[in-house]
Amino acid sequence: MSVIGYFNGQWVDPAEPCVPLDERGHQFGDGVYEVIRAYGGRPFLLEWHVERLFQSLEALRITPPFDPDGCKALIRKLLERSGESEAAIYIQVTRGSAVRNHLFPEPSVVANVSATVRPVPPTSPEVKPGRLLLLPDERWLNPWIKSLNLLPNVMAKQTAHDAGADEALLVRDGCMIEAASSNVWFVQNGELITAPADRYILAGITRRFVLELARDLGIPVREEKLPRERLAEVDAIFLTGTLTEVYPIGSVAEHPDIPCTPVSAARPAARTVTPEQVQVVWTARDLELVERLRTAFVERVRAWVGSFA
Ligand SMILES: Cc1ncc(COP(=O)(O)O)c(C=O)c1O
Repeated sequence: MSVIGYFNGQWVDPAEPCVPLDERGHQFGDGVYEVIRAYGGRPFLLEWHVERLFQSLEALRITPPFDPDGCKALIRKLLERSGESEAAIYIQVTRGSAVRNHLFPEPSVVANVSATVRPVPPTSPEVKPGRLLLLPDERWLNPWIKSLNLLPNVMAKQTAHDAGADEALLVRDGCMIEAASSNVWFVQNGELITAPADRYILAGITRRFVLELARDLGIPVREEKLPRERLAEVDAIFLTGTLTEVYPIGSVAEHPDIPCTPVSAARPAARTVTPEQVQVVWTARDLELVERLRTAFVERVRAWVGSFA
């Protein structure tokens, strides 16, 4: 089991210093990233990941040092070098290194590319349903860009963890639109409901895959924002993500002192939340449809891996 690192054409030890202090990803979070799951030694849904990486780069006006084919070739090279078959490949592209100044470097500098490849456990057919903590979505107005700026996501996920939950369920404008590092889906009367891929959520690659899967299985999907008040009507909830895959949720909790709609302009106090302070406000009624989707997801991945054998 090895973890490999890469920075601008060099193989590096990810635990050793190598990124310059003037690196704009380090100074400003001025860059974007992707995470790709490899199954059976092959990067899954690579085409879609690279397409999204280039959309994020374009949105931030960063010129990468490769074209999409070069990017795919690099990802394959990283995976081959790691020798891992079940792995997570993280790739970051930043605006480059330059003396600290908010303005883009002038003359422009070459973008930096870094990456790591780490082994991950193989997909397990059984998974224990998780818990979500409802929290206000405190991210910026462009979460559709997969930028390196993940501080609100980090804080939300840590708060959820402190409260004994596995993920944060983020509420913006009264609706439950996304989780801190995954997309959220609701099941109601045999229908799937997930927020539309507008500017306020990341258009997950797994979300896109599950939309196709649901269509193939004849499961109706509504791309709509679900108001917080309608949580009680929901039969099941699941999350999707590259490493999360299809993950069933057993319960949702809430902290009475953390309103999902910020009501006051006062600076909120630092949140130190304990499991005893939260209340369960929803429990799963029927996870059968989620299990069906998860099984179908795992089977599709297996069939895809098998197609190369
Ligand atoms: C905020 C957020 N939403 C959704 C996702 C899921 O996206 P994907 O399926 O492309 O991994 C992620 C994954 O990193 C994420 O960080």
